[in-house]
Amino acid sequence: MSYIRDPLAPFNPVNAVAPAAAKPNAAPATPATASAPIASALGPGDAAIVERLPAILDAVRILSPAAGTLAHGEEHWRRVATLGLNIAEANGADRLLVVLFAMFHDAMRFNLGKDDDHGMRGGFLAACMNAELLGLDEERLDKLDMVCRDHSIGSTSEDPTIGACWDADRVDLIRFDRAVEGIYMSTLAAREVWFQRHARTLLTGTPDWEQIFYRLAH
Ligand SMILES: [Fe+2]
Repeated sequence: MSYIRDPLAPFNPVNAVAPAAAKPNAAPATPATASAPIASALGPGDAAIVERLPAILDAVRILSPAAGTLAHGEEHWRRVATLGLNIAEANGADRLLVVLFAMFHDAMRFNLGKDDDHGMRGGFLAACMNAELLGLDEERLDKLDMVCRDHSIGSTSEDPTIGACWDADRVDLIRFDRAVEGIYMSTLAAREVWFQRHARTLLTGTPDWEQIFYRLAH
């Protein structure tokens, strides 16, 4: 299945998610904010990487000890991807890196408790797959490695992509009934009340990967 938009089709960023929204459990539209969305477009080489996302996900699933867990497995990854894309639509973060972060950041958890090095192992897994599957340039691979490695140390960042990744992961602490204070968030979007409410709604209706990849490609 192709997730790439027909290059000859007219592009309308306002209703680009409409086909996905028609499906059950479709990704909710980003609630209105005071400022216009500034979502970053995919880069010229990104379409090919988006096409490989299902294969990348399959490889991560095979290698991940955590993929099947409720606390840190795929449902959490899909919520992080969804929340991260929502933030990216507001702050212009690198949307492809946000989705890759969602797939890799907890993939190499060896247990459900304290596992300080799991982010570093997740970033290492991405680096190991880069030549065969991901195909990121050195700068983006370094950023993916860094956001995975440091995602659980409690830092914030002014970099839009790093902030989108870390905030998306932290907002989903709502799955443990934990709300994160604004001072621990990097982005304005994640500090807004509607965003915390939106995160809670995802607990009962997380978009599937097909919907997430479709949204990323459009
Ligand atoms: Fe996580």
